[in-house]
Amino acid sequence: MNHTSRRYDFQDKDADYAQLAAELTGLLAGERDLIANAANTSALIFETVPGLNWAGVYLLKEGGLVVGPFQGKPACVRIALGAGVCGQAAVRNTTIVVPDVHRFPGHIACDAASRSEIVIPLHCHGALIGVLDIDSPELNRFDDADRKGLERLAAILTATQ
Ligand code: SME
Repeated sequence: MNHTSRRYDFQDKDADYAQLAAELTGLLAGERDLIANAANTSALIFETVPGLNWAGVYLLKEGGLVVGPFQGKPACVRIALGAGVCGQAAVRNTTIVVPDVHRFPGHIACDAASRSEIVIPLHCHGALIGVLDIDSPELNRFDDADRKGLERLAAILTATQ
């Protein structure tokens, strides 16, 4: 397979996330393996969305979150449910956008450069299977257009299951 990512300038976030959704749908087409698809989803996001220093998944295993495929610096392996932004998003079962990680009680700093973060729960047939975690070295990097666009990409990943 020869996959070349389109370049996006994100001047029009809604349009670019729509293109990215189409690109991800094509990239994952015909493959059901969760690790493979999470790896390509992380790589596509990290490669195309500007201003990120980490993008990847934590998967729900034996009652906790365990790091899965990602792009960025090596990360914390296990996160308890309720701990950090990831564990909170899993327990609350809703996307959490953190404009300033230093102001989020219990934030787990895997990469000291991270300043803002978004964590999106991943659902398969109604059940939580993990979270998509994306970090930025910029303060307040993720707005509502990013949330909607990234939630759409997360749904494309889980729809392969
Ligand atoms: N910051 C996350 C931990 C994971 S790293 O960002 C990759 C958290 O607080 O859950």
